[in-house]
Amino acid sequence: MLAPTPTASARGARTQGAICIKDVVKVYDPDRAAIMAVDHCTLDIAAGEICMIVGPSGCGKTTLLNAIAGFHSITSGEIYLDGELLCGPDKPMANPGPDRIVVFQNGALFPWKTNLENVAFGVVMQGKMRKKEAYEKARAMMADAGLSGTEHNYPGEVSSGLRRRVEIVRALMNDPKVLLFDEPYRALDSLTKSVMHEALLEIYYKNNVTIFFITHDLEEAIFLGHRLVIMTSRPCRPKQILDVDIPHPRDYSVLTTPRFRELMDQTIEAVHEEARKSFEAGEREG
Ligand SMILES: Nc1ncnc2c1ncn2[C@@H]1O[C@H](COP(=O)(O)OP(=O)(O)O)[C@@H](O)[C@H]1O
Ligand SMILES: [Mg+2]
Repeated sequence: MLAPTPTASARGARTQGAICIKDVVKVYDPDRAAIMAVDHCTLDIAAGEICMIVGPSGCGKTTLLNAIAGFHSITSGEIYLDGELLCGPDKPMANPGPDRIVVFQNGALFPWKTNLENVAFGVVMQGKMRKKEAYEKARAMMADAGLSGTEHNYPGEVSSGLRRRVEIVRALMNDPKVLLFDEPYRALDSLTKSVMHEALLEIYYKNNVTIFFITHDLEEAIFLGHRLVIMTSRPCRPKQILDVDIPHPRDYSVLTTPRFRELMDQTIEAVHEEARKSFEAGEREG
């Protein structure tokens, strides 16, 4: 059963960054194979919401993220950001833009630039800010994100947790409306992940930017998200939407609460069913 659009409790204090995905279909057609990846997917994400997307490998999650980011076209349907059409019938592909930033993980920082230079670089290059202004903003944002003292270090000189913070702060320099994450922590062990989650939430609590976050990790999904969208096996569309009614700000103590367990159980059941269908259909890692 689908939950209604986000409730007030599922929104951050933001007025920008609402995504409306309406009846989106995506068919890839290599050698006329017609692979349908997204099937009439409709989903409203509120401004300032952390929306977690889970679903079997190969179901079409990345395809949807790429359509929002403007990396791929859609076959039909519409995607809006704050009521403005990003892509639709006469414009199958959204323009990528600084209002929607994909936070690439691992290796996306220039190793030969300091953390501060990395954070300030993009906006100066794009001519959006003068160097002095960019550096001032970068310093302030780094301080807010707990990165004071690392400004003049190179990315390779700080821990992976701090590097991830630098990556997110760099994305936030553009004042994006939406951050898009595609399984950013999939290769990490659970202890490192918990540090990443804390860092992400700390930064989120200061910025309330809308977050579209794909993950395989159900604990991560429930811990971070206001809502959890469980996708069907390919072609994907929301199968179930769970409101994670655990108040933010959250810390790791919520993992041991009965409500967290309940939500985990519900999610596992819904995801498992789709994973089995997907397995039976012969899908592999996507
Ligand atoms: N560029 C492409 N050309 C053809 N098929 C693709 C392309 N990208 C993805 N697919 C197919 O679309 C389906 C969904 O892929 P994807 O969106 O990457 O899934 P997920 O991110 O959920 O694992 C898969 O069957 C995949 O093989
Ligand atoms: Mg993917």
